[in-house]
Amino acid sequence: MVYTGLSGSGKSTVAAAVEHELYKLNCRSYLLDGDNLRNGINRDLGFLPEDRSENIRRIGEIAKLFADAGMITLVAAISPYRQDRDRLRASVQPGEFIEIYVNCSMEHCEKRDPKGLYKKARSGEITHFTGISAPYEPPLHPELVLETAKQTVSDSVHDVMSYIRHRGLIHPIKEEGEEF
Ligand SMILES: Nc1ncnc2c1ncn2[C@@H]1O[C@H](COP(=O)(O)OP(=O)(O)O)[C@@H](O)[C@H]1O
Ligand SMILES: [Mg+2]
Repeated sequence: MVYTGLSGSGKSTVAAAVEHELYKLNCRSYLLDGDNLRNGINRDLGFLPEDRSENIRRIGEIAKLFADAGMITLVAAISPYRQDRDRLRASVQPGEFIEIYVNCSMEHCEKRDPKGLYKKARSGEITHFTGISAPYEPPLHPELVLETAKQTVSDSVHDVMSYIRHRGLIHPIKEEGEEF
């Protein structure tokens, strides 16, 4: 599942909380966080459109490997371009791609500014910043929308868990000795 939204909208926060919930349910999951990957596998990429597309392409390929290994794979990345997300959706089986729009107004994100990035973007210290000097294209048909300015983190976790439970995607790992 891909959490897309503005910087500070709550993608990492909600995705990590969902991952924790899955862990408690004994489900295998893995969280790919765009910020972390930009320090490693994607450290050669910047924030121009081609680099952002390549960022998402690589994250998508890695996500597919984890999904192949049987994990519920969570991606938290701005992924500002609709085309990049749609390309990823088209490259997996129907139903396998769950787009979660982490919706939060710019004003709200800027007020939170958890990493101080909006401040830097406003002062011009950072360029090509999503929402200020680079575009964000919201999903047109996301599987789920989280309104993080209105709902709490646990409301969002509840919505995601209900959705994936309803879709039959929760498969706990069997304990040793347990009958299959
Ligand atoms: N309802 C909420 N849902 C998600 N995050 C929230 C909420 N209310 C406040 N926050 C805070 O907003 C910030 C979101 O930051 P983060 O998860 O890093 O965003 P992103 O990964 O989208 O850039 C965190 O500091 C989080 O604690
Ligand atoms: Mg994040």
